[in-house]
Amino acid sequence: MKAVIPAAGRGTRFLPATKAQPKEMLPLIDKPVIQFVVEEAVASGIDDILIITGRGKRAIEDHFDKSFELEEILERDGKTDTLKEMRDISDLADIHYIRQREPKGLGNAIYYAKKHVGDEPFVVLLGDDIISSDVPCTKQLMDYYEKYKAPIIAVNKVEKEMIESYGVVDGELVEDLVYKVKDLVEKPKPEDAPSNLGITGRYLLTPDIFDAIDKTEPGKGGEIQLTDALRILSQKRDMYAYDFEGVRYDLGNKADYIKATIEYALRREEFSSWMKDYLKTLMK
Ligand code: UTP
Repeated sequence: MKAVIPAAGRGTRFLPATKAQPKEMLPLIDKPVIQFVVEEAVASGIDDILIITGRGKRAIEDHFDKSFELEEILERDGKTDTLKEMRDISDLADIHYIRQREPKGLGNAIYYAKKHVGDEPFVVLLGDDIISSDVPCTKQLMDYYEKYKAPIIAVNKVEKEMIESYGVVDGELVEDLVYKVKDLVEKPKPEDAPSNLGITGRYLLTPDIFDAIDKTEPGKGGEIQLTDALRILSQKRDMYAYDFEGVRYDLGNKADYIKATIEYALRREEFSSWMKDYLKTLMK
């Protein structure tokens, strides 16, 4: 299965950091967010990845490319561990790029993948969303696809006051954690939300999504929304939502970025013990 990673958005929620650099390249400690996303696809068994880029996103291509000068210097200085780490990044997968001409919305970005994915199902991982889980979230979706052979959207239960920032699924529980989709709404007001199942940044889609995107009119924010295209598709065929195991961080959102930075630092052996002491001191 191929993976598509849309990374062409404007990232206005993270200005000014994203004025001259892609938000997908913001580091979580020392690794760009999009590398976590690519690693999740690879850990799910995927080796063909299409990244949707756009204006001002060249740093993403450079990051996954080989850096001869850097490798030469690291080799000369005997920094073999770092050298291996750098080589591993450019060997991660077969990565392709296509540019979205204008950031006209997530649905429009996905449409650019039409030729590359052809007639096969594919997964979409948002380039600014990371998910911490035992089994990679993408792999969880792929496993359920084997059973249902239909599009599956990753969802999580969301606090009522946060629902307005999500696409929301109205679904009927068909087995533990799996819902058959009845309807979808993009960013509803809390009182209009049909459920607390918020769409997170992973989807397993079938090629009929492209027709649905074609039929989708601009929605919230004047953009072609993927949720609206999924809504059109859900009226024609079975579709599922899966309440995945794991914690998702939307790193295009400052609060999630701060949380993820603290949590990931606490998990790293080199930082965890002094960070705990430091946090205790701060709390006093
Ligand atoms: P977001 O919903 O975070 O939108 O996109 P955004 O425009 O990038 O960010 P804000 O709201 O202005 O802060 C989710 C993912 O979809 C990609 C983004 O790059 C991000 O990885 N995207 C979004 C596109 O590739 N193209 C678009 O037109 C919009």
